[in-house]
Amino acid sequence: MAVAPVPMEGHGSYNRSSRVQAAGSSPALPLLEHAARMVTLPMTPAPIVIADYGASEGRNSLVPMRAAIAALRERVGAERAISVIHTDLPDSDFTALFQLLASNPDSYTRLDPAAFASAVGRSFYQQILPSNSVTLGWSSWAVQWLSCVPATIPDQLQVACSSDSAARAAFARQADEDWRSFLVHRGREMHAGARLVVLTMARDDAGDFGYRLLLQAMYATLLDLVEERLVRAEEAHRMVIPTIGRMRAEFDAPFAHDGHFAGLLIEHLDVFNGEDQVWLEFERNRDADAFGAQWAAFSRASVFPTLAAELEGGRSDPRAGTFVQRMEEGLAKRLAAAPERMQIPLAKMVLTKGES
Ligand SMILES: C[S@@+](CC[C@H](N)C(=O)[O-])C[C@H]1O[C@@H](n2cnc3c(N)ncnc32)[C@H](O)[C@@H]1O
Repeated sequence: MAVAPVPMEGHGSYNRSSRVQAAGSSPALPLLEHAARMVTLPMTPAPIVIADYGASEGRNSLVPMRAAIAALRERVGAERAISVIHTDLPDSDFTALFQLLASNPDSYTRLDPAAFASAVGRSFYQQILPSNSVTLGWSSWAVQWLSCVPATIPDQLQVACSSDSAARAAFARQADEDWRSFLVHRGREMHAGARLVVLTMARDDAGDFGYRLLLQAMYATLLDLVEERLVRAEEAHRMVIPTIGRMRAEFDAPFAHDGHFAGLLIEHLDVFNGEDQVWLEFERNRDADAFGAQWAAFSRASVFPTLAAELEGGRSDPRAGTFVQRMEEGLAKRLAAAPERMQIPLAKMVLTKGES
């Protein structure tokens, strides 16, 4: 079962509703700055290439790209060309990305005349940049997305909540294959001495993927829509969130033999629990509706388009708009009824390409 991945909702929706991800990535920023100080630089006059893998509409790339550029500028001065390449799936909203880069006062393109933006619309599960061209890589909240849906999940939307052993095994196999494929292709694109910083969803050392309340409320909301006949049972059955949380040992697995894989080695790997900013705000204002609405908006921007693609007519099904709207409303209501701090297990790591 191989279904093409579906990007985020588009039209700036991800840019408006990705606060959770921005907060989750911030602990990886010091790793990126350190990597920028340590990487081997290409010989002049070749540009220094920063690749941003899985950029979506770009808002959450502004801070890391500025931080990386600032650290590199300390080494190379203001004149050296730095090329920033944002990558995502072909259907991603690159218009929103370039509009943001042109208009946002924090955009590196407005602040640094020698920093140049471009984009690639191809899956990062293949080689998408020339061999030996990337100096510094960044990928946040992206490699948890699998290259395909390896199996249906009969009892849930996210495999981590499922008790179906066949589905769990199929997802685990795909997760291993995709992680290796991601590394192989980055290993080709990076030049000797380059570094790649990855922040992604994970499972903690007890195997917990987190988001318990959110995922259960989402599935219950979907079942409500089946009950109301907005969604057919067979459509709901096909709906899956093709993301995976890997455990520390699963990130390490390709490197198990001698510490190297695809020319890369893991310089740093840490699994940690991200701060739930939505919960912190709820603790301050006790506004349960706002708590529900914010997590529902997060889900709408990041996973509802993937679910809507399984309606009979795909994302252009006449019910798609209503489906997304009703999922958001239903989820917000359920979450508001019993707010709870979300566990957000994340992994941050630095991979280095060996100086061959
Ligand atoms: C949750 S967003 C993360 C955006 C941003 N990096 C951040 O930290 O907020 C995940 C992005 O990864 C992209 N993505 C998923 N699978 C991908 C693939 N195979 N190749 C490239 N991008 C992919 C999605 O389209 C989406 O835009």
